[in-house]
Amino acid sequence: MSGEIVGILERELGADAVIGPGHERLDDYGRDESPLPEFFPPSCAVLCATTAQVAAVLRLCAEHRVPVTPRGAGSGMCGGALPVAGGVVLSTERMTALRDIDDASLYCVTEPGVVTGRLQEAVEAQGLFYPPDPASLDYCSIGGNAATNAGGPRAFKYGVTREYVLGLEVVLMGGEVLRCGRRTAKGVTGYDLVAGFVGTEGTFGVITELTLKLLPKPPAAATVLGVFADAATAGTAITGLLRGGLRPSVLEIADRASIDVIRGKSRYRFPANAGAIVLLEVDGEAEDMERAMERIGMELDRLGALDVLAATEPADRANVWEARRLISKCLKDAYRIKVNEDVCVPRGRIVEMLARVDRISAETGIETAVFGHAGDGNLHVQLLGQDDPEDPAVRARMWGAAERVFVATVELGGTLSGEHGIGLSKMPYMRLEQSEQLLEWQRRWKQLWDPQQLLNPGKIIPGRRACAE
Ligand code: MLT
Ligand code: ZN
Repeated sequence: MSGEIVGILERELGADAVIGPGHERLDDYGRDESPLPEFFPPSCAVLCATTAQVAAVLRLCAEHRVPVTPRGAGSGMCGGALPVAGGVVLSTERMTALRDIDDASLYCVTEPGVVTGRLQEAVEAQGLFYPPDPASLDYCSIGGNAATNAGGPRAFKYGVTREYVLGLEVVLMGGEVLRCGRRTAKGVTGYDLVAGFVGTEGTFGVITELTLKLLPKPPAAATVLGVFADAATAGTAITGLLRGGLRPSVLEIADRASIDVIRGKSRYRFPANAGAIVLLEVDGEAEDMERAMERIGMELDRLGALDVLAATEPADRANVWEARRLISKCLKDAYRIKVNEDVCVPRGRIVEMLARVDRISAETGIETAVFGHAGDGNLHVQLLGQDDPEDPAVRARMWGAAERVFVATVELGGTLSGEHGIGLSKMPYMRLEQSEQLLEWQRRWKQLWDPQQLLNPGKIIPGRRACAE
């Protein structure tokens, strides 16, 4: 049936909307930014431009029992957009209208294909602010951010995507269009379906419109960098900063391997003596910046920083952030294998988690790098290698080490994913964290929205076990 659906969709939406078999771009829709190369060829990709087209695809695929995998910009890191069961990839990349920015009521209404960084620039031009800032903001899309409940450095002060999604238009499998949520700052009318859709990685419905909460743009911001001898002292400093009275907007860490990989590749040069860095940002009124930076500098000194550097000019700050956002890409370029995780531990356990990663590295001989949103306990643990990523033994070894990272995380009271989602690659490890009872309730929830199990099948929740444990 999957072959037949291509012709059916071409007739319904026009050949221009369908990338079918033999098209040179089709393979792109079978890949994303997953840790180890995964490729699942779809029968076709449909580039929808309107809600009506999304509804037509979901109606026709339900009628013909063809699996559908929704896709934003394909920047996901866990295989959430990979069409594991074949069928149709439904891309929202052509839904790029930013429809309304309401500066009196502080919200905007947007289609899902708008690139997150573009949305931020558009609202900032009106003195407004959309805080969630995933590192991929130059190419990820806002619909994908909502589908994965993306975070980013500013989540430390401002929270993750879910806290900004006020309302959604969602198309369900079968083609029904559902509008939920509100445009008001508060609202507790009925069940919170918006929160229920955000973070479900396109397994409940396809997001076709979002209403997002905006804030007034802070008039000023400054960046401060604490240079530390090693990751352990930097981690201890993070704990100290969390317990102090400071309230930065960002509190990040990067270890030596993460810093070294971007040397010579970014405009900003990290100091040669940096064994680890703690990166902070403060925002607020211009006249408060100097005092805030002084206090942070004193705290960093007290917590053992070798050096404290500040960036206040917009161009300097932009260079520091360019360098930070390059870490993931540079590690990917430097290693043939990069299994990047985004585990999250209770904030009091960061130092222990860093030590556990060191131990796993020493015992497995696998190189690691750790960076990320330490203020949230959210660490991007990277397992790195130069072996052949297609070799099953190599893959098993890397995933074995990743499992040890997950076990350590759960033992410390943490969670498998702080911001990237579960998708395909972390699904096998869900039982490390969640009970069979909890998984079963989630299967029932999925069944409610997608009784035919056709929408993004094979993701997040592992299947039932064949026999009782
Ligand atoms: C980041 O914060 O840079 C990312 O979420 C990317 C990554 O984990 O590789
Ligand atoms: Zn991140």
